[in-house]
Amino acid sequence: MASKAFLIAITVVGIAAPKAFATDYVVDWALGVNYTAWAEGKDFYVGDRLTIADPTAFATDYVVGDLSGWTLGVNYTAWAEGKEFYVGDRLSTLID
Ligand SMILES: *[C@@H]1O[C@H](CO)[C@@H](O)[C@H](O)[C@H]1NC(C)=O
Ligand SMILES: *[C@@H]1O[C@H](CO)[C@@H](O)[C@H](O)[C@H]1NC(C)=O
Repeated sequence: MASKAFLIAITVVGIAAPKAFATDYVVDWALGVNYTAWAEGKDFYVGDRLTIADPTAFATDYVVGDLSGWTLGVNYTAWAEGKEFYVGDRLSTLID
């Protein structure tokens, strides 16, 4: 009976221990990020959590051409000038 209780205690400690020292890592998921460099110097252990930061959380909604919409005669190069687009951005357009 005593040995059964001992085995259960070891099992509980064995499961609980990795979580007690777990580290939460948040990774920004985007183009141009060197993930090898990001991981350098980090020691990862069982129980660590990697969270991929949702790129859509920082997404921008663009209406292409603004109020002119998608039509002839709109200079979309000029419209795009000065804008920086990222993964997760949403492009939509107004259509008559
Ligand atoms: C990414 O980082 C690693 C480690 O610092 C480096 O060796 C590698 O050249 C980098 N890759 C790019 C594409 O910069
Ligand atoms: C469209 O805009 C770009 C950037 O401002 C400019 O270089 C180009 O000449 C324009 N094109 C027309 C047809 O107006």
